[in-house]
Amino acid sequence: MEKRESTCKKPKRPLSCGQFLPRSLRRIDSAQPEVINRVTRRAYNMEITFLLNGETTRVSVSDPTVTLLDWLREDRGLTGTKEGCNEGDCGACTVMVADPQGARALNACILFLPQIDGKAVTTVEGLAAPDGTPHPAQNALVTHHGSQCGFCTPGFAVSMATTHANGATDHDDQLAGNLCRCTGYVPILRAAKSIENAPVPPHIKPLFGSEISRGEADSRGAEPPYAHPETIDALAEWYAAHPKGTLIAGATDVGLWVTKQHRSLGPVAFLNRCADLQEISINDSEIRIGAGVTLRDLRPVMARYHPAFAEMIRRYGSEQVRGAATIGGNIANGSPIGDSPPALIALGATLHLRHENTRRSLPLEDFFIEYGKQDRAPGEFVEAVSIPRQPDTLHVYKLSKRFDQDISAVCGAFNLVIENGRVASARIAFGGMAGTPKRASQVEAALTGQPWTEATVDAAIDAFARDFDPLSDMRASAQYRLKSAQNMLRRIMAEHLGHRTNVLEVRP
Ligand SMILES: Cc1cc2nc3c(=O)[nH]c(=O)nc-3n(C[C@H](O)[C@H](O)[C@H](O)COP(=O)(O)OP(=O)(O)OC[C@H]3O[C@@H](n4cnc5c(N)ncnc54)[C@H](O)[C@@H]3O)c2cc1C
Ligand code: FES
Ligand code: FES
Repeated sequence: MEKRESTCKKPKRPLSCGQFLPRSLRRIDSAQPEVINRVTRRAYNMEITFLLNGETTRVSVSDPTVTLLDWLREDRGLTGTKEGCNEGDCGACTVMVADPQGARALNACILFLPQIDGKAVTTVEGLAAPDGTPHPAQNALVTHHGSQCGFCTPGFAVSMATTHANGATDHDDQLAGNLCRCTGYVPILRAAKSIENAPVPPHIKPLFGSEISRGEADSRGAEPPYAHPETIDALAEWYAAHPKGTLIAGATDVGLWVTKQHRSLGPVAFLNRCADLQEISINDSEIRIGAGVTLRDLRPVMARYHPAFAEMIRRYGSEQVRGAATIGGNIANGSPIGDSPPALIALGATLHLRHENTRRSLPLEDFFIEYGKQDRAPGEFVEAVSIPRQPDTLHVYKLSKRFDQDISAVCGAFNLVIENGRVASARIAFGGMAGTPKRASQVEAALTGQPWTEATVDAAIDAFARDFDPLSDMRASAQYRLKSAQNMLRRIMAEHLGHRTNVLEVRP
């Protein structure tokens, strides 16, 4: 106890809700409100305004990387929102966030306070009506025995209420980001299904579509500086002036730098107010996707043009992750196991970068130079990615240990154009097979111009080992990765021949 107290008094950096203390010490910090108050009232701040369970709430944010979860639990005492993993994996911290675009379930543990400015946040405490009548989701969880220890239940109730408010009925997908280790999912799914036709309670309905006035993003004199630009132009100007700053889009990566690595980010800019970064435009020649478009918003568009891409997005993280994660963040983080780059590369995508007022474009595959290194200069950011319009011939296979909410061991994307029984063109790209997302050029060469037959596939199999020398890690061994990538090509042929290949399809 002695040691803990002295650590609280001598923080490595100014504390904010105790979030930079080791986890074991954070409860001590939260038990000392005077520490929290002193910390949150530092000289510089950002004013944010939002609806919290229907009430207008103004908060003076001194540290822009305080998470909503920490603030709810430690500043507001709203402890119904639980902390499980603190990294976006379990859904115990799920809150409903609504704005004029609709309602999303998001993980409060990796959501920074400035990201909710101007939005309506509903926590589990706000689900019941003002007169105490439980939300239909809460009643259904009771009626269908959907809770045992109850730790996961607030998160499930909020996810179910959001699904219900949106009229969605794909409960498996909607609830895949909420983990329960004692009840079992069938009673929970039964509960979700049972309220499909119940009316949305009147106190929840008005939250959607309402324009809520936002706070004053006044960071003058702030040290480190931070920004909440409203346009791409303003973002470009800020980033050119702060080239060492950190851009925060959905924070599904950056959030973990703070909650798990306890990193101090220095100057930050939040991208979520840049409406012009969130546009998707489609014309005869291309589909242009703004860097700020979330995976959730991209999915229905891809379902129209490249359904295999959309099906991969269905398995990308969870509903909570897809609702925050952006395509720009998934590309810019340079991860060798990011799921969208293989599909985009196979589709021949072009990346659009911007530094101040200078723009340049390059084939997406050229952006990834080597592990941890991308072709991006200081102060330069991803503005958009565009896909040339083309007939759909894309196959995407995401292989992970778990079907839902899991990072890929291997993700393969194959864009094979077959004309008159021959492979007219082949663009194939993989994640998880090298230090970057990478094209399988040798495999492409082995297929192109050949008859589209099993013999051609057999002949191309050896080319995988010339393209890739994958690593062994906790997700998969090198040998397994290579074999799986080869089998993905065999799978396309099997599908072409009409064989059943989908493990989710149980057919006679
Ligand atoms: C529980 C969980 C599950 C996940 N599952 C998957 C999965 O299945 N598949 C997958 O691929 N990923 C997954 N991820 C990783 C993560 O969701 C993605 O990488 C995501 O796309 C990152 O986007 P973001 O908007 O959240 O980026 P952020 O976290 O905001 O930023 C990520 C990086 O990109 C930079 N950045 C963001 N936008 C730009 C821009 N416009 N220009 C330049 N730099 C920018 C940031 O500075 C930072 O370096 C998962 C993450 C979590 C927490
Ligand atoms: S605490 Fe597990 S997702 Fe937030
Ligand atoms: S009821 Fe115990 S974790 Fe779900």
